[in-house]
Amino acid sequence: MDPQQAALLVEPDRVAAALSEALAAIAAAATPPDLAATRQLHDGDRSPLALANRALGSLPPSERAAAGARIGAARTSIREALLAREGLLHQQWQAATLRAERVDVTEALTRSEQQRPRVGRGGRHPLSTIAERVAEVFTALGYEVAEGPEVEAEWFTFDALNIPADHPARSMQDTFFVTSGESGVVLRTQTSPIQIRALLARPLPVYVIAPGRVYRTDELDATHTPVFHQVEGLAVDRGITMADLKGTLDHLAQAMFGSGLVTRLRPSYFPFTEPSAEVDLQCFACRGACLTDASVACRTCGNEGWIEWGGCGMVNPRVLRGVGIDTDTYSGFAFGMGLERTLMNRHRIVDMRALVEGDIRFTRQFGSAL
Ligand code: DAH
Repeated sequence: MDPQQAALLVEPDRVAAALSEALAAIAAAATPPDLAATRQLHDGDRSPLALANRALGSLPPSERAAAGARIGAARTSIREALLAREGLLHQQWQAATLRAERVDVTEALTRSEQQRPRVGRGGRHPLSTIAERVAEVFTALGYEVAEGPEVEAEWFTFDALNIPADHPARSMQDTFFVTSGESGVVLRTQTSPIQIRALLARPLPVYVIAPGRVYRTDELDATHTPVFHQVEGLAVDRGITMADLKGTLDHLAQAMFGSGLVTRLRPSYFPFTEPSAEVDLQCFACRGACLTDASVACRTCGNEGWIEWGGCGMVNPRVLRGVGIDTDTYSGFAFGMGLERTLMNRHRIVDMRALVEGDIRFTRQFGSAL
């Protein structure tokens, strides 16, 4: 660079002018991109002060120090101003963003927001709820919840329960065989095989409750479904009697349907209990009033006063001996109820298909209570 030109660039007036121009531009930059452009113009490689700095080498040595100090001070001022402005713009941007993105959680919904369809909460299937309720009643008495497979060995489902090979329950009409009639594997037709599994797996005494899904080759109609649910109860201990069974069933009836209700046992036959009985539930709607008062017409029990509920009995000693239990010391009771029937009675559901079809307009009526 020629020395004359160089002397011009480093002149105090020129440096002061470049500095004040730069400071004014920095103060005027309103946004971060503005400021970036300003930085390029006044502190970049081709800025007046960068050029002046490069001219220093062409000056006579005696002038270099003073000119260098002047230029250096100006450039430092510019960089400080840039930094300060940058901090301020960032703060402003942050405050504006926070303002723009603010959500007032206390604000009432506008009419159109209220009308917008919301995602439904759905409902629990009432069968799940009732199965859990029954299980809770029994766990509160010290019972354990037991389970077994739905695809079950014929031996657990029938043989071990004293249901001989020629028993009607084993015929092809009732039972789904998994591959063929000879496979020995079935879809369980009742929850009673869980009794055998529980007795084989647990030390005595055994107190278990077992809700579960069962299968029978029925067509789906208003009163039948090929897939339904039962709950099985079993108690095997020293000195268990039929009175224990009756007291337990009354307790369940009251826990599920209301205090003061009782059950009634009617003699019956099941291969795995001896003696066996059908359990009826006193009608929870009329409490039997329809039997004594001619003016009462009860839709729940159809003027029977009682509602069929399930089967029960004292565990047949043959069943206990089959799993190695000493029947001189131990005895037990068992019972089994259909959960669909329980639910249909409880809520006056007349068509079983409502329980199967999975229409949320049905389940929603029961809410999402656990
Ligand atoms: N398993 C029987 C059925 O499906 C119901 C039943 C009857 C279960 C008597 C029992 C019982 O535990 O003792 O029809």
